[in-house]
Amino acid sequence: MKTAVITGASRGIGSEFVVRLLDNGWRVYAGFRKEMHRLDLIEDENLIVGQLDVTDNDSIEVFASNINHPVDLLINNAGVPDGRWRNIKEIDDQWALDVININSLGPVRLVRSLYDKMSGENLSTVVMISSLMGSIDDCHSGRSYAYRASKTALNMFTVAMKKEALEDNISFLILHPGWVKTRMGGENAPVEMDTSVDGMMELIEQHNLEDSGRFVQYDGVDLPW
Ligand SMILES: NC(=O)c1ccc[n+]([C@@H]2O[C@H](COP(=O)([O-])OP(=O)(O)OC[C@H]3O[C@@H](n4cnc5c(N)ncnc54)[C@H](OP(=O)(O)O)[C@@H]3O)[C@@H](O)[C@H]2O)c1
Repeated sequence: MKTAVITGASRGIGSEFVVRLLDNGWRVYAGFRKEMHRLDLIEDENLIVGQLDVTDNDSIEVFASNINHPVDLLINNAGVPDGRWRNIKEIDDQWALDVININSLGPVRLVRSLYDKMSGENLSTVVMISSLMGSIDDCHSGRSYAYRASKTALNMFTVAMKKEALEDNISFLILHPGWVKTRMGGENAPVEMDTSVDGMMELIEQHNLEDSGRFVQYDGVDLPW
């Protein structure tokens, strides 16, 4: 049985990954920050739930210490939007730093903490749930300053880590889930959660070491940096 770890699994895209992976016969370690939300409703002996705040190294250490299997798949999904500031003068330092802490550094902390559980003879995949909003080439409308910058930084952290990790059989996949109907995406988002996760699951299944560092949308379209 393969083992997956998912951050921000209490609701939204993370919770959909949990359901999908359990259905496909995976053992799933699911992290929730404060409330279990949807995780509370899932009854499955292969689901192991634990408190996990990706900004807190103590929380990560306790969560990781309860994982008793090699990790085949890490989905770094936890993320937050920024303040939707209307202009440059409204940018709030502390909020911007919090967004970068959660969205950029959080995934790096998880990779660092689970590195030894992922490296080995079998290929392990780290999925970074990034965003097209992190693409510099695609940044036509601007705004969402900190959110955009946090995802750009996440992309660069990932590409910078990939060469080293190749030697340890760890591969990275940077995914844009589309604009998805969740609390973050809002009601007007055109993509349903199951469509997005179906597409991303297919990409994860097809992924291999040669493709490490690919930046791709849920429907398979490669994205510009
Ligand atoms: N929805 C979209 O259109 C869209 C588009 C592009 C990219 N994304 C990315 O997709 C990912 C999932 O987004 P979503 O739409 O599913 O958002 P969501 O419904 O708001 O869910 C976000 C999840 O992240 C968790 N989280 C936030 N801060 C955390 C922290 N410090 N430690 C651990 N967990 C934390 C939340 O937990 P709590 O319940 O405790 O708040 C929640 O479970 C994010 O990385 C987001 O940037 C989403």
